[in-house]
Amino acid sequence: MSDAARAPASTSGGSGAPRIPGEAALRDLAVALADVTPGPLASRVVPIDGTYDLFGIEARAVADAVDGRRREFAAGREAARQALAMLGVAPTPIPRAHDRRPIWPAGLVGSISHAAGFAAAVAARDRDVAGVGLDIEAAAPLRDDLCGCVLTPTELRRRAAVPMVAGVPRCKVTFAAKEALFKAVYPITLGFFGFLDAVVDVGDDGSWTAVLRDPPAFPRADLRIGAGRWAAAAGMIAASVCIETGRGPPR
Ligand SMILES: CC(C)(COP(=O)(O)OP(=O)(O)OC[C@H]1O[C@@H](n2cnc3c(N)ncnc32)[C@H](O)[C@@H]1OP(=O)(O)O)[C@@H](O)C(=O)NCCC(=O)NCCS
Repeated sequence: MSDAARAPASTSGGSGAPRIPGEAALRDLAVALADVTPGPLASRVVPIDGTYDLFGIEARAVADAVDGRRREFAAGREAARQALAMLGVAPTPIPRAHDRRPIWPAGLVGSISHAAGFAAAVAARDRDVAGVGLDIEAAAPLRDDLCGCVLTPTELRRRAAVPMVAGVPRCKVTFAAKEALFKAVYPITLGFFGFLDAVVDVGDDGSWTAVLRDPPAFPRADLRIGAGRWAAAAGMIAASVCIETGRGPPR
């Protein structure tokens, strides 16, 4: 890889060290990820505890970051390049914009997430979807004090009535869905919106829907928020959503 800088070598152990997922956990999460990213989406998950190449422009973006941050950034780029490779795209830089959003190669959209020792990414052609968002989270419940910041009154009521959904905390699935939604919408609008600006309804069948409150309305009449998907495996939750064009859903 030309213009490449080697990401730091892997480490393990010590207090605050990242969780090192086993092969089985990685496999199970890969299955869940594939479940929430059906064709024409391509997705991959890799362990953060690995040694991955970065292009120079990427390495410079995290040159001053702490080791753990450089490591998760590099693993996210690796997962993204593997997802792009599934679409036939040769290894290419995915720079970071000033607002942290990844800048995908022309004609492509995608999303990156990292948590609990895993980094995952999804990519797609922009002729198929206008945007895509992905989030992975450890399946532990959100802290109670965070629930009030993340969940709307409607979502808090649903959580009080049915706290678990398919065996995992509803609040955490809702949180993951909202982060996925933000990552899908923001690169299109370049407008920030907060957790209380969206109302998410999580189904126990692996689906979720989202309605953005007004303001900010989703400001493109030709685009719509698609059906969200979520799945749980290996103590993790994966959530995804596409921004669809008027040409129809990505099936
Ligand atoms: C941007 C945000 C969603 C990222 O989540 P996170 O908790 O940092 O963790 P994740 O690991 O899941 O995601 C990080 C990745 O998101 C991507 N990302 C960051 N900012 C982004 C943006 N503005 N648009 C799209 N993707 C973005 C990056 O690829 C980043 O990884 P990288 O820096 O290694 O490239 C979160 O930091 C945030 O700002 N949330 C507030 C906005 C929000 O979620 N609103 C909810 C609306 S309902």
